[in-house]
Amino acid sequence: MTSPAATIESVLKETRLFPPPEEFVRQARINPQEYQRLHEWAERDPDGFWAEQAKILDWFAPWTQVLDWSNAPHARWFVGGKLNASYNCLDRHLANRGDKIALLWEGEPGDSQAWTYRQLHAEVCRLANVLKKLGIRTGDRVTIYMPLVPEAVAAMLACARIGATHSVVFGGFSAEAVADRNNDAGSKLIITADGGWRRGKIVPLKDNVDIALSKSPTVKTCLVLRRTGQPVQMVPGRDFWWHELMADASPDCPPEVLDSEHPLFILYTSGSTGKPKGVLHTTGGYLLGTALTHRWVFDIRDEDVYWCSADVGWVTGHSYVVYGPLANGATVVLYEGAPNHPQEDRFWQIIEKYKVTIFYTAPTAIRSFIKWGEEHPRKHNLSSLRLLGSVGEPINPEAWMWYHTVIGGGRCPIVDTWWQTETGAILIAPIPGAVPTKPGSATRPLPGIRAAVVDKAGRPVPPNTGGYLVIQRPWPSMLRTIYGDDERYRQAYWGQIPGVYFTADGARQDEDGYFWIMGRVDDVLNVSGHRLSTMEIESALVHHPKVAEAAVVGRPDEIKGEGIVCFVTLKQGVTPSAELKEELKAHVVKDIGALARPDDIRFTDALPKTRSGKIMRRLLRDIAAGRSTTGDVTTLEDFSILARLREEEEG
Ligand code: WT7
Repeated sequence: MTSPAATIESVLKETRLFPPPEEFVRQARINPQEYQRLHEWAERDPDGFWAEQAKILDWFAPWTQVLDWSNAPHARWFVGGKLNASYNCLDRHLANRGDKIALLWEGEPGDSQAWTYRQLHAEVCRLANVLKKLGIRTGDRVTIYMPLVPEAVAAMLACARIGATHSVVFGGFSAEAVADRNNDAGSKLIITADGGWRRGKIVPLKDNVDIALSKSPTVKTCLVLRRTGQPVQMVPGRDFWWHELMADASPDCPPEVLDSEHPLFILYTSGSTGKPKGVLHTTGGYLLGTALTHRWVFDIRDEDVYWCSADVGWVTGHSYVVYGPLANGATVVLYEGAPNHPQEDRFWQIIEKYKVTIFYTAPTAIRSFIKWGEEHPRKHNLSSLRLLGSVGEPINPEAWMWYHTVIGGGRCPIVDTWWQTETGAILIAPIPGAVPTKPGSATRPLPGIRAAVVDKAGRPVPPNTGGYLVIQRPWPSMLRTIYGDDERYRQAYWGQIPGVYFTADGARQDEDGYFWIMGRVDDVLNVSGHRLSTMEIESALVHHPKVAEAAVVGRPDEIKGEGIVCFVTLKQGVTPSAELKEELKAHVVKDIGALARPDDIRFTDALPKTRSGKIMRRLLRDIAAGRSTTGDVTTLEDFSILARLREEEEG
């Protein structure tokens, strides 16, 4: 693990404080008094607190126990309770919000659709019946590999309706990655599209699925949505067109009555080993966590037009595009494509066109907007906005201020939300009508969440001292396990620091108790807000026939947060060349996906290792960042390696 201490200095200087605007406080769902009350209540009586909050969901049958922690760290929340996530996101809104728009979708080429809650409900019911007809039953796993279209949301909810556990794989992942995830989950069916649009080009999803299915023996059936319209291969008996099966499917499909702990979805994310982790979330606790935090943190109201720019392939899309907002009956904007297509003002155009009131995006996007220039947002009327959100990585104070001034017109609070795929929902964030913000800080844990910054032994560290961010108590939307690997779950999250959930983030708390998250302390990179394991990229590289060894590290990147630098030693007789660098980059893209494309490949004769054979990553990080290497290097096996790497660096 690397010490978070080194990065502390940069944020220590930030002292600006932004109290919630008076006008916002006056109408906020949670004002400062209510905020205080919730916190005190949750501390005094956590079970009673969660039991009361859980009333925001519709239950078919009540639970008998709020939390069963007797088999810790395996939690069961709302024990014995019965519900259905799709019922909570759809059916219960039909009486009062049937004609309210649920999804306001815009495709990259400019086509658009508006789906009411009633329409979304009908589509989900029909699709659920199609899935049943294709042999899918409660408990089966279904992979979803789709562009960001309304049907992707329907696919998730159709699975939830019949109790099939979905595993959404982001459309930017490769065929190999799809196959790995199919196999790990044991998926029986995959839902995809012919393609999706990205920067004017077609992402060939179905072609990728064809390759993936040649390596995914458990997947027997493929359902294909027609989106882009280019020809694709349809394997008779295996592949079916969405529109054909939907044409005669009944819109009547009662929701399955499911246990609170019924597995809702598996979502794969990178950990510190080469193998992605299948994070498992269940129904009751997850839905409560996402719905409740979506209300609290986004202050959601019926009139809002809410836009979270994430793809449903990421947890942000699961929790804050689909489950949280729809459970709350919100109007959700979806945009299929890139923020700079056809021009750099696409997002601002969308905000103006749909009169978006709440906008939630990632710091890496904000930094791109800054680079593209203020003239793009300035061309558009953004006065509908009332609240802004940030997620995925620490937001640097400069980006925060730009977001606040240029996008928020100085009037919109910014909610910097810290959470993880594993936490299911936001854990640390300001509630906008109650908590003064500081640029770059996610502020304080939400009511019911107990977080701390501790040392390796679990002892709290003094204010303004770097340490490990931990969560000291279970919470409803926590992951339940790593799919098929309970041991890894126990070890990675609850076996690192005694008695607490280990986040793998470094952080400090300031004198006001505000949390400043500094980033991962494990071998996980955060590239444009996406998690990538260095080991996963290394393993892709060493599978190339010309590569002997590889070490991958991050280096600071102005836009992406972190860039990917690969140190590679070649097999005997292979000559390094610029072409080979490109070949290796393409190889990583093929193995993992475009999001893992290395920024820099550096050939070296050997990797710096300790006497025990461990790669000296800190050294490599310093070299990758162009920093001079300080500290004790006496364990270096071979000083000349370092010298050579440096020579290359100075090139
Ligand atoms: C990692 C989790 C949670 C949705 C998107 C990412 C980093 C996330 C923040 C934030 C500082 C943040 C952490 C965390 N992170 N939000 N507001 N401030 N860092 O989910 O892919 O599971 O990644 O993202 O390092 O551990 P994820």
